[in-house]
Amino acid sequence: MYAQMVKSEATNDDPEKLAEFQAKIDADIKIEPKDWMPQGYRKTLIRQIGQHAHSEIVGQLPEGNWITRAPTLERKAILLAKVQDEAGHGLYLYGAAETLGVSRDELTEMLLDGRMKYSSIFNYPTLNWADIGAVGWLVDGAAIMNQVPLQRTSYGPYSRAMIRICKEESFHQRQGYDAIRKMAEGTPEQKKMAQDALNRFWYPSLMMFGPSDKDSVHSAQSMAWKIKINTNDELRQKFVDQTVPQAEYLGLTVPDPDLKWNEERGHYDFSEPDWSEFFDVIKGNGPCNTDRLTARNKAWDDGQWVRDGLLAHAKKKRARHLAAE
Ligand SMILES: [Fe+2]
Ligand SMILES: [Fe+2]
Repeated sequence: MYAQMVKSEATNDDPEKLAEFQAKIDADIKIEPKDWMPQGYRKTLIRQIGQHAHSEIVGQLPEGNWITRAPTLERKAILLAKVQDEAGHGLYLYGAAETLGVSRDELTEMLLDGRMKYSSIFNYPTLNWADIGAVGWLVDGAAIMNQVPLQRTSYGPYSRAMIRICKEESFHQRQGYDAIRKMAEGTPEQKKMAQDALNRFWYPSLMMFGPSDKDSVHSAQSMAWKIKINTNDELRQKFVDQTVPQAEYLGLTVPDPDLKWNEERGHYDFSEPDWSEFFDVIKGNGPCNTDRLTARNKAWDDGQWVRDGLLAHAKKKRARHLAAE
């Protein structure tokens, strides 16, 4: 149905409608599910919201891995709540994507067979407890940077989902920072673990904003449609500027010898991540790509009997209802 839908809309972009549509966006009027929209707008949103939903769900895996091994009952309760929040974020976003005419099952199948992507950051392993702090601090921190402007995105259901999500994300970032602060202020061994986590998660976090603007394929059109509000490089810079003082406060060193404050620009200068690694991980060669997709496929297969049961129950109920009429 998804392929059909995209195909059948390929010819509907008449110039008058397009101009009307763009005028609405320029006037900050939200686009709602039943409004006319260009095929490219629908397609880009399905890709972006779907990819975002998948990231929330796959993002549960590296952290879920540590729920049973959290160092205290309090940390366990906090982590459990956070991982549960991510499931909720996935649901809001799948719901928003469904309003564009693609079903949740179709989206799931596209994730499971590799036609759709999720954020590459979740293809990196969480090796120890300090990593859980680093994920909350850096990964959720980078996610917020991306997501706060998306609250103003032009598509109504996406914008409303982002408003709810952002409320929870700031809590995620703070719990991560608090966990890593405890480590950084702990024994020399604990501090070393915190530093090692920062070393491993720094560049992958910078990659979360996507390739540099000059290499980013979708940027210009997405910005005109207000599907994207800031460029990748703008957001990356903002993240670096915000995070470096936080690392300094912890007494940790950002693993970039060229990092320094640039008085003239009013920003930090920093080294670009290794983009060949980024594209390699996207292609499926990251440390955990296979694990993540195997885990999601297993969950989908293991849940088949529940879906079958629910369907059978709904059918029976409907038959009883019809018989009674
Ligand atoms: Fe989230
Ligand atoms: Fe989060």
